[in-house]
Amino acid sequence: MKSRTLRIDEQGLLRTLDQTRLPFERCEIAMASAADCHRAIATMQVRGAPLIGAVGAWGLAFALRDDPSDGGLRRAADWLAAARPTAVNLRWAVERTMRRVRALEPPERARAALDEAQAICDEDVECNRRIGEHGAALLEGGAGGGTLQILTHCNAGRIATVDHGTALAPVYRLHERGIPVHVWVDETRPRNQGASLTAWELAERGVAHTVIVDNAGGLLMRAGRVDAVIVGCDRVAANGDVANKIGTYLKALAAHDCGLPFWVACPLSTIDPLCASGDDIPIEERDPAEVTHVSGRLDNGAVGRLRIVPEGSAVFNPGFDVTPARLVSGLITERGVFPASTDGIARALAGGRE
Ligand code: MRU
Repeated sequence: MKSRTLRIDEQGLLRTLDQTRLPFERCEIAMASAADCHRAIATMQVRGAPLIGAVGAWGLAFALRDDPSDGGLRRAADWLAAARPTAVNLRWAVERTMRRVRALEPPERARAALDEAQAICDEDVECNRRIGEHGAALLEGGAGGGTLQILTHCNAGRIATVDHGTALAPVYRLHERGIPVHVWVDETRPRNQGASLTAWELAERGVAHTVIVDNAGGLLMRAGRVDAVIVGCDRVAANGDVANKIGTYLKALAAHDCGLPFWVACPLSTIDPLCASGDDIPIEERDPAEVTHVSGRLDNGAVGRLRIVPEGSAVFNPGFDVTPARLVSGLITERGVFPASTDGIARALAGGRE
């Protein structure tokens, strides 16, 4: 339980690490209302597809304490689900919570929604634990006896989920079993989730890793210094196309060219059967300031921001890109590894999900 990213304290507040302050400051935020949860998601104090889903569900439960009416339920659900558009886990978790409570009498809804939010958290932990098992079995042996060299993009680790992570869950599993593994960590401009968050959490676990600029992966892959690429995911379309952090597509292209496996780790809640293909996935466009500025520790020890783009230059900042299914070696889910295809996804979802 101690490694979980979300906890409810004695006052009923939802507490988590503020990820915008990592890796230099470790401070918590406390959420007591739907507005707190919405703000934490929109400002990326919490981020990562499964984690924003869980916080969205708590947000709906908090909203129902104030207004449990049918109208209040619909309005809060729509508002929370729109806090970030690409990761479908947010809409999935909010709608699951809404379905759980809407047949109840209004006074019973908040309690039931809190229970559902807790269930979503518990299930996320178990899904990711299983992703770790399936992914470790897949990756094991990929190095032919030497240190397994993994490349990852963005942060799909413990702090992007309630626990364990998705893409990093197999890495942690292998590390726990004493199998030598080293991770090449893409810095992941513009927000540097790799450099700031993945490096931080790999260091916390004692996993060997090296941070590289986003453009170095191709060189390393061609030089035979990568055995496999593994990333998380924000939405999988019904045909197996996957949306993940901007820059993922280029890594998939390079892996394909070099004949390397490109694995996508995700719980089934990341699959969106309503999106026929990646063309239907909404791509979040974020603040140009994320491109024009970088944040970090200054030489005087203070944490600050620096402008790196000339005043007046136009800036475009899409947060995600789509990797076509043909470049994906497989989807590592809690139910096992499935082809990224219409048929593979139908099989993964057979037997249903919440
Ligand atoms: O914008 P972010 O930091 O929320 O983007 C996160 C990613 O793209 C992750 O790879 C994805 O959510 C998988 S999280 C286990």
